[in-house]
Amino acid sequence: MADDKVLEKNGLYYPPQSFVDKAHINSFEQYQQMYKRSIDDPEGFWGEMAQGFHWEKTWDKVLEFNYHRSKGPISIEWYKGAKTNMTYNCIDRHLETRGDQPALLWEGNEPGEDRIITYRQLYEHVCKFANVLKGFGIKKGDRVTIYLPMIPELAISMLACARIGAIHSVVFGGFSAESLKDRIVDSKCSLVITSDGTYRGGKAVTLKQIADEAMDHSEKEGVTVPKVVVVERVGAGKGIECPMKQGRDQYWHDLVATAEGDCPVEWMDAEDPLFILYTSGSTGKPKGVQHTTAGYMVYVSLTHKYVFDYHDGDVYWCTADIGWVTGHSYILYGPLLNGAQSLMFEGVPTYPDSGRFWDVVDKWKVDIFYTAPTAIRAVMRMGDDFVTKYSRKSLQLLGTVGEPINPEAWRWYNEVVGDSHCPIVDTWWQTETGGILITPLPGAIPTKPGSATLPFFGVQPCLLDDEGKEVEGNGVSGRLAIKAPWPGQLRTTYGSHERFETVYFSDFDGFYFTGDGAKRDEDGYYWITGRVDDVINVSGHRMGTAEVESALVSHPTVAEAAVVGFPHEIKGQGIYAYVTLKVGEEYSEQLKKDLVLHVRKEIGPIASPDVIHWAPALPKTRSGKIMRRILRKMAAGESDFGDTSTLADPSVVGTLVEMKGK
Ligand code: WT7
Repeated sequence: MADDKVLEKNGLYYPPQSFVDKAHINSFEQYQQMYKRSIDDPEGFWGEMAQGFHWEKTWDKVLEFNYHRSKGPISIEWYKGAKTNMTYNCIDRHLETRGDQPALLWEGNEPGEDRIITYRQLYEHVCKFANVLKGFGIKKGDRVTIYLPMIPELAISMLACARIGAIHSVVFGGFSAESLKDRIVDSKCSLVITSDGTYRGGKAVTLKQIADEAMDHSEKEGVTVPKVVVVERVGAGKGIECPMKQGRDQYWHDLVATAEGDCPVEWMDAEDPLFILYTSGSTGKPKGVQHTTAGYMVYVSLTHKYVFDYHDGDVYWCTADIGWVTGHSYILYGPLLNGAQSLMFEGVPTYPDSGRFWDVVDKWKVDIFYTAPTAIRAVMRMGDDFVTKYSRKSLQLLGTVGEPINPEAWRWYNEVVGDSHCPIVDTWWQTETGGILITPLPGAIPTKPGSATLPFFGVQPCLLDDEGKEVEGNGVSGRLAIKAPWPGQLRTTYGSHERFETVYFSDFDGFYFTGDGAKRDEDGYYWITGRVDDVINVSGHRMGTAEVESALVSHPTVAEAAVVGFPHEIKGQGIYAYVTLKVGEEYSEQLKKDLVLHVRKEIGPIASPDVIHWAPALPKTRSGKIMRRILRKMAAGESDFGDTSTLADPSVVGTLVEMKGK
C-alpha cells in the first residue's frame, strides 16, 4: 500500500496515512493549536495536563518563577503546594487496571536470558526493597548512590528510593572508581547499591571492586559510606571476585528475603528532589543536576505519550543505559507513568553479533524503538544483512537522541531499519531539561533528515547573538536558549545553587542557556549544530574537555594538555588530545598507550582519547590562553588555520604540524 509508506516531498518526510489515522496528535494544525495554547496560557495548559495523575493534595499555583538573575535568585516552581509520589504514580495507580500486565521486559546480555515483571510484581519488589532502605534508616532527602548494570534491580532501586523520598544518584556502570568517588563525595550518600559484576559482551567484569576502590578513596575525602547493598548478578565461578566487607556489605537477596511486601509511600511536596544525575560541563568536576517531583513527572509522561505516540499495549524500547538521563526519563519514569511495557536491555548492539537489536525487536514484537545515532552508525557499517534477516514487522516508530544525526544514517534508519514505514523522531534535549524539548510529533510534523524540527508544548526556544539579543525571523542561527520554564527543567545543581545560576543563567539574563548552537531554517525548523562551549559529544555522551585534560595532567609525565573534539565516523565526535610532556620525559608509543589507559582509569572508557598528538608547545595568545580554534582545525585535518598572528609564538603551529602522527 503506497499510503503505508513514509512519503518524501520537497525534502519533507510525511508519516504513513495508517500512522496518522491512529496518532494522538494527527495534524499540523492540531499541533499548532495546542502549542499556541501552551504558550499563551501555560498555567491553564499544564494544569490540565496534570489531571490524570494521583495527587494526594492538588496544587495552589501551577507556575512561579524568576529567570532573571538581575532581579534576584533564579527559582522555578511547578505545581506548588501539591503532594504526590512518583512511584505511586508509576505503579500503585495502575494496579487495579493493569496489575498483571508486564511493566518491564528484561532482555539479558545473553540471548535467551530474560524476565518479565508485571506491575504487581514490580510493586512487591519495590515495596520490599523500600522496606530494606527504611531498615537502614534511610529517610526522605537522604542520597543513595546506585552503581548497577542494566538489571531489574536498578529500576527497583530507583523506584524504592522514590517511594520513600530518598534521592537517587545513579552512576553509569562504565564510570571508573575515580568518577564514582567524586559522585559519592559530592552527594554525601548514605548508601551505595552495586553488583558483584556485569557483562561486557561475552565477558564478566567486576563492579564491586571498583565500588570498593571508590569508597576507600571517598573515605580519605571525609565521606564514609555506612552501608552497601550488593546484587549478585554474575555469581561464583565466572572469574570475578566479590569481596564483602563485614558490617558494611550485604547481599540484596538476603535482605529482601525477609522484607515486608507492602510499604506506604512518602507523600512528597511537588518541589521535593526526586534525583540527582551528574553531567559534564565546560569547567571543573561534573555537576549534580537536580530534578524534582511533580513537574518532572508530568513532563516525562506527556512527552513519552506524544513524542512516541504511545498507545496502550505498545511495546516500547529505549536502548540507552539507565545511567544516563535518557534511561531515567524514557526507560523508567515516562513509560511506567503511562502504564507501558518498557524493554530494558542489558547487552550491547554487537553481541553476539550486529543483528542483536533486530533479533530483540522480533522477539518482543517491539512497536517503538529509540536509540542513538552512534549506535545506528555502528550497526550500519556491518551491512544490511544483519538487519534484513529479521522481520521487524512490529516496528511502527523510530527515534534518535544524543547528537545530530547525519542524513546518511537517517536515510539508512528510515529505509533499511524502518522499511520506509516508520516515522523517525529526532529528539533534542539534555540532562538538564529532564525531557524532550525539540522534536517532531510523528503524526503531525513532517520531518527533515538531521533536524529536530519544532518545540514541544510549552517550550519556547530562541536564538541569541553574541550580545544576547534575540535573533528574529527564519533562516538565522545563534546560541540556543529557552525563554521560559517547562515542568521538566532542572531546579538547581546539587550543593550549589550559585553554580546553577552561573552555568545556565548568567550568559544571557532572562534565558536558560543550553550551551548548544542552532540554526532555524526557512520553515522555522531547528537544526542543532553542536556545543558552543568546551564540551564535546562522544557517542551521544557529554564530555568536558577540561575533565579529560585534568585526567591527563594528573599523569606524572605530563606537563600540559589541551583536548578538542574532531569528526569521528562512528562516535560523532572523537577525543583528540595535545600533550606536552615534562622536561626530560621521552615521547614514545608506549607512553601514548599508558596515557590512554590512565584516562580510562581516571574517568572511564568513554573518555579514552582517540588520538594523542605530542605537542612540544601549545599555541597560546600573549595572555596565555590556548587558541583552541587552531587545535580543532588541525585535529579535523585542515591545513588553513586562519589568523595566527596574535599568537605569542606563531612558529608553534609549524612544529605541531610536524609532530602530527608521531
Ligand atoms: C547534549 C546533551 C538527553 C539526551 C542524551 C544526551 C546533544 C542531544 C540531540 C539531538 C543534536 C543533540 C546536545 C545537547 N544532543 N540530543 N537530537 N540533536 N544534538 O544528554 O549528555 O545531557 O547531552 O547532547 O549537544 O546539549 P546530555
